[in-house]
Amino acid sequence: MAYYHKLGTFPQKRHVQFRQEDGSLYAEQLVGTLGFSGLSSLLYHKNPPTRITRIGEPVPYAPKVAEGIKLAPHHLKTLDQTITGTDYLSARKTMMLNSDVAISICNPSERKMDYYYKNGQADEVVFVHEGSGVLLSQMGKLEFREGDYIVIPRTIIHQFHFNDGPVRLLITESFSPIETPRRYRNHFGQLLEHSPFCERDIRAPHELIEYTEGGEHLVQIKKDGLLHQYYYGFSPFDVVGWDGYFYPYALSIYDFEPITGRIHQPPPVHQTFEAHNFVICSFVPRLFDYHPQAIPAPYNHSNVDSDEVLYYVAGDFMSRKGVDRASFTVHPGGIPHGPHPGTVEASIGKKETHEYAVMIDTFKPLYLTEEAVGLMDKNYPMSWLENGPNTTRAADMFD
Ligand SMILES: [Fe+2]
Repeated sequence: MAYYHKLGTFPQKRHVQFRQEDGSLYAEQLVGTLGFSGLSSLLYHKNPPTRITRIGEPVPYAPKVAEGIKLAPHHLKTLDQTITGTDYLSARKTMMLNSDVAISICNPSERKMDYYYKNGQADEVVFVHEGSGVLLSQMGKLEFREGDYIVIPRTIIHQFHFNDGPVRLLITESFSPIETPRRYRNHFGQLLEHSPFCERDIRAPHELIEYTEGGEHLVQIKKDGLLHQYYYGFSPFDVVGWDGYFYPYALSIYDFEPITGRIHQPPPVHQTFEAHNFVICSFVPRLFDYHPQAIPAPYNHSNVDSDEVLYYVAGDFMSRKGVDRASFTVHPGGIPHGPHPGTVEASIGKKETHEYAVMIDTFKPLYLTEEAVGLMDKNYPMSWLENGPNTTRAADMFD
């Protein structure tokens, strides 16, 4: 994260003696990225984080990529997937992925996790479409609510505790660090005046947890298509203090201030995060273009080098017929896409939009999973025909 944060107690000088009440030393741990040149934090544990009791058998946890998918625009309908599984990990269903990113839905029915979790090789951006609760981590408590992006850096051990009510999450795993857009930061890392959000909008953990329960504590570690089972004789939430730049944080889509103009603004104005080879953008309610001849609907475009994923959150999706909340549209690079018939004319004279959507644009092609194929609207590729989808041709496309 782009600003320094600290919680709890730690010595004034790093790497010096820091003792517990019984005289023993706290266990200092540097958690850092990019080989000592990325962001890092220093944590002080009651127990050495290296003290593993046992390692169980790893559990297979790799999505299956669907074979034989034709190059085409896709529409995945996930709204009916009210529950995708019981607990946070079993409920994750990956929809698409490549070597930079994996995109999953997750609608767990259980409210609390009875294990700990960390992603051993990817940062996670958990977008809270529905639900609220608290993220517990080694770095402290972080309350979240609908509309939050929760950014959890790799290796941070955490648990989600959800409040009562439906939970619907969109999870983006990034195999490189998630960052705020570089063009919105100055040389020192501070967000600039033209950024659509600033440090005041970013919420960091605010209270340490310091569990002291004995017994066996399971940490499930996601790495290389497996869930590795690590057991400890103490809770990993045993941190008495930490400081640094590496920690989970939340940013609400409701705090994203849209950038508008006299004529249609390109998708990068919606950019919220970036990582290697992909970006995450937020479409939020905004005034439409105010040139007297402006066409608010987007123009057809061939984003030659990007696959474009839109996840529809709330509102009236002006340019697409037939999409609903929790729909994905996936438009592969090189294939032109744009508004459905009639929506360009209908947009003229409109003053504002109330839509919310999350967009993920990737430079490398995305591969749909077998889970995604089961949610596919097979008519979608033909939905730009004047008289609506031609189901015969749609079947030709996919079957
Ligand atoms: Fe597009």
